[in-house]
Amino acid sequence: MDDKTKNKFEFKNYKIIEKNEVAPETVVFKIQGHIKRDPGQFFQVSMPHLGEATFAPCSDIGDTKHFELCIRCAGSTTNQMIKLLPGDEMQIRGPYGNSWPIGKMIGKNVVVVAGGMGIVPLRPLIFELARYRKEFKNIYIIAGFKTPEHVLFEKDFLSWNSIFKYVKVTVEKSGSKWWGETGLITEILEKPKLSPNDTIVAMCGPDIMFKYATQTLLNKEIPKTNIYVSMERRMECGIGLCQHCNIGKFLVCKDGPIFSWQKIEPELGK
Ligand code: FES
Repeated sequence: MDDKTKNKFEFKNYKIIEKNEVAPETVVFKIQGHIKRDPGQFFQVSMPHLGEATFAPCSDIGDTKHFELCIRCAGSTTNQMIKLLPGDEMQIRGPYGNSWPIGKMIGKNVVVVAGGMGIVPLRPLIFELARYRKEFKNIYIIAGFKTPEHVLFEKDFLSWNSIFKYVKVTVEKSGSKWWGETGLITEILEKPKLSPNDTIVAMCGPDIMFKYATQTLLNKEIPKTNIYVSMERRMECGIGLCQHCNIGKFLVCKDGPIFSWQKIEPELGK
């Protein structure tokens, strides 16, 4: 095994230097160090004696000194992880998996659709779209959350608003201080006029959102080959052992986590 391969399969310790609670039971850890990766790839994080979980880093791949992990409590392992503090270390290995098809997006319109925690693997892609803005046509960022309290990376959306043509954040239930839209993400996705053969979609969120959002896009005649989804929520072990991520003939951790809708749709529900 060469050094590059060995590094990929060995856990290394990384120190947490900052922790911010960004939504209920959801924290962003800023971690010292750099792991070369592409937007959409994921890491495996281990807590000795407690378990392991996979996470897509949510930060800009251009930052070579730090990276960020956004972790929501979703079980006993993540419940322990979100209790870690600055100064504590995390054991991390990776990156694993494929990445968003940025090469295919060059010269095209790009639509990014994020539901809840689905913004996490999409945020590094959006940073790349902003960095190389001139390489793409119109860029549409559409994100949906339960309530204003659940909105992640609010400051980013406000700054992306000045860079991209169309940035909409919607919540299902709003309050008087909410600055964005209220309603379902599919209602927001209905609005822009998209040119079918010239548009690439990157999407991550809950299964129910995939179902209705892809239907909305197909109604706009966007080809299934141009719609990409990250199925990363289904993963557990991240290395092909638990079978938890099985979708038909695919394992998300081995064959994904990003698939074209044309590839993954026939396997859903098998
Ligand atoms: S996450 Fe365990 S087999 Fe894919």
